[in-house]
Amino acid sequence: MHRRPTIDVLVTPADRHEAMQLDVRTGLSSTPKSLPPVWFYDEAGSLLFDRITRLPEYYLTRAEGAILSRRAAEIATVTGAETLVEIGSGTSEKTRFLLDAMSEAGALKTIVLLDISEEVLRDAAANLSARYDVEVHAVVDDFRDGLLKLPSNGRQLWAFLGSTIGNFTPEERAGLLVDFRTAMGPDDHLLLGTDLIKAPGRLVAAYDDSEGVTAEFNRNVLRVLNHELGAGFDPEAFEHRAVWNAEQSRMEMRLRSRAAQIVEVRELSLTVHLQDGEEILTEISCKFDPDRLRAELSAAGMDVSRKWLDDAGDFLVTLAKPGR
Ligand code: SAH
Ligand code: TRP
Repeated sequence: MHRRPTIDVLVTPADRHEAMQLDVRTGLSSTPKSLPPVWFYDEAGSLLFDRITRLPEYYLTRAEGAILSRRAAEIATVTGAETLVEIGSGTSEKTRFLLDAMSEAGALKTIVLLDISEEVLRDAAANLSARYDVEVHAVVDDFRDGLLKLPSNGRQLWAFLGSTIGNFTPEERAGLLVDFRTAMGPDDHLLLGTDLIKAPGRLVAAYDDSEGVTAEFNRNVLRVLNHELGAGFDPEAFEHRAVWNAEQSRMEMRLRSRAAQIVEVRELSLTVHLQDGEEILTEISCKFDPDRLRAELSAAGMDVSRKWLDDAGDFLVTLAKPGR
């Protein structure tokens, strides 16, 4: 008989709605217009993201998975972790490499998952509960609101994978790293997955795949606004664009209006005017340099214990711990 996962919903539908209203009002009233990435991940968005992770052009997930599979035993030994805390866990697929290794080391006691997307989180928690006979604690919350509300049990390994950290600006990223440092105990470790700077052609292909799955993922944010805020976006009236911004070392996902148009967001009583060709910035994905990342971790009070690349040198996984 398997234990049932515990599910804590810390963000109510009303909180979520209010946060979305604020984000959307701010973003669509700014110049240039933008939308924050957290709202991509409704149920349909999470399914589309899962398809992205399997696309031939999207090397990130495979590269990170290869590193984790090769280094999981070492990570379990170095950290001695009893609890795995995964932030922005999604399907928690790659995480199994870590959990298997912790389990084989006889150390695994608790799994804590944090994600804003309740449906995906429930599935992941159920799958992990069926596979590991330990306490699985799933928390539905926005990780931007801090990490201090999570349950803790013994030595923890905090995993923040998938280069999700790259979806934040350098300022936001510095804040998030400090949040981790603040939530971590002296014997805890952070395992951080980051995509590295590389030839722009490969980066653009990874975010503009030939099947158009990423384009659908990008347009999905408009469907979310239609459902949740009574907006009147026609997703097909926007073209998906993936652009390398060399100056800021980041990929930018944009939605370009195919014509001049006026869109009402009913619940916000907001009228959005778009010019022909005007772009809404929907996502950034920063690409990293290992030495700079070390400096950023250090600025947040963390030291790098180990770091690993995949064979092609595309992706970096860093293990860090609070500095003394
Ligand atoms: N870790 C997985 C999923 C990455 S996709 C992987 O490596 O493949 C990013 C995940 O973070 C999604 O599941 C999304 O729902 C979640 N997420 C994004 N912004 C969030 C936020 N502000 N708070 C909580 N979860 C968030
Ligand atoms: N963390 C992922 C990344 O930066 C998220 C992501 C993948 C994404 N593909 C995307 C976000 C397309 C927006 C659009 O790679």
